Amino acid sequence: MTMTDLHTGDSPFARRRRLLLDWMRSQGGGVAVLATAPERARNRDNQYAYRHDSDFYYLTGFSEPGAWLILVAGAQDRAILCCMGKHPEREIWDGVRWGPEAAATHFGFDEAHDSERLDDLLPGLLVGAERVFAVLSGAQGTDLAPRLQRWTAAAAGLSRGARALPVHWTDLSEIIAEMRLFKDVAELDTMRRAAAISARGHVRAMQAAYPGCHEYELEAELLYTFRKSGAQSVAYDSIVAAGANACVLHHRAGHAVARDGDLILIDAGCELDGYASDITRTFPVNGRFTGPQRALYDIVLEAQREAALRATPAFDFNAGHDAAVRILTQGMLDLGLIAGTLDNAIERGAYQRFYMHRTGHWLGMDVHDVGAYREAAAKIGQRPWRKLAPGMVLTIEPGIYVRPSEDVREEFWNIGIRIEDDAIVTDAGAELITRGVPVDPQAIEALMQEAAG
Ligand code: GLY
Ligand code: MN
Ligand code: MN
Repeated sequence: MTMTDLHTGDSPFARRRRLLLDWMRSQGGGVAVLATAPERARNRDNQYAYRHDSDFYYLTGFSEPGAWLILVAGAQDRAILCCMGKHPEREIWDGVRWGPEAAATHFGFDEAHDSERLDDLLPGLLVGAERVFAVLSGAQGTDLAPRLQRWTAAAAGLSRGARALPVHWTDLSEIIAEMRLFKDVAELDTMRRAAAISARGHVRAMQAAYPGCHEYELEAELLYTFRKSGAQSVAYDSIVAAGANACVLHHRAGHAVARDGDLILIDAGCELDGYASDITRTFPVNGRFTGPQRALYDIVLEAQREAALRATPAFDFNAGHDAAVRILTQGMLDLGLIAGTLDNAIERGAYQRFYMHRTGHWLGMDVHDVGAYREAAAKIGQRPWRKLAPGMVLTIEPGIYVRPSEDVREEFWNIGIRIEDDAIVTDAGAELITRGVPVDPQAIEALMQEAAG
């Protein structure tokens, strides 16, 4: 796909807008208003790196700040972009802006206007609209909600009381989440490339590790690989956890030193062209697993293998978690970490002391991506887990985390292990797109020997 046809009427963005417009019409029609993410100050006049809102980007392909999307589902559908106007002086400082005229053509909108004109445009567009659609939850930091209130009030004024307020409101979050849950061919291709870059980053970090290294040194290897490979950013702050830090689930790469005999847990992934990747690997800093480390590692790996076998349309979202919990719990029983029978230990949640998170989540534009995990059902509280289907992407990430405790054998203290891969659900099974970095313990040791030798 070339740059040009990415944004014409045949682009995935235009196709998604048409789908959404059709759905809006099925709800009686009306006007949808979406705002992209606001810029955020880091301090004084210094901004955090800008990241568009995912829903907004999904429907527009437009990644500048200060942009709005308006969809009119009526007698004639209209897709309107409002964006920052051209501003030669600001562009010297902040970079070239598309501006409405060029943006309309390039991104395939029926119309585009300067966002400064929103207050003039919206009341007119809303006159006669029975229903207003918006993603209110995604608009934190924008003034979408109060502006919509003002615009609908102004629209009522314009229509000279012919239509009384309030209009009907519909949140678009769920329907857009449903669309985003099923990735198309181009999205899957981007996610495979993001996964491959992240895997290379993990290989590089593994090979750079040595007893005495700091967590931040390995983070630097990850970041270097991500950016060197063209990824725009990390998908989330990198977790690089040496030794006992691996038992802190969201430990950020810090100043801790990995000592000889420690494991290092790295949970890191890049964001490429708006799509996340999410990989965890756990490896011995000196290149050789100890017996107790290996015993726990093998349990987690087996749990991951069993969960991956269930990332297919034959199973529901929770089947992988249940399978992983069974393997992990049996392993904990075998090693004397917990006591009892398997079924009883699962039933009373004994494993949760050492495995306290779920085995995966949707992955897409956001690292914890949108999409319902349960089927819609007639009765609240009885919603079954969602059946998996081709085009869904999820992570598979079991783990074991053992904190020091008198009732736990000391050889297991401070060992934290997680193994995480990203899987595309296909009819033929789970396609693991992150295996550019090995999970097999012997392959990991060989990779590290290669670097040392
Ligand atoms: N990196 C966050 C997660 O694995 O869910
Ligand atoms: Mn994850
Ligand atoms: Mn992760």
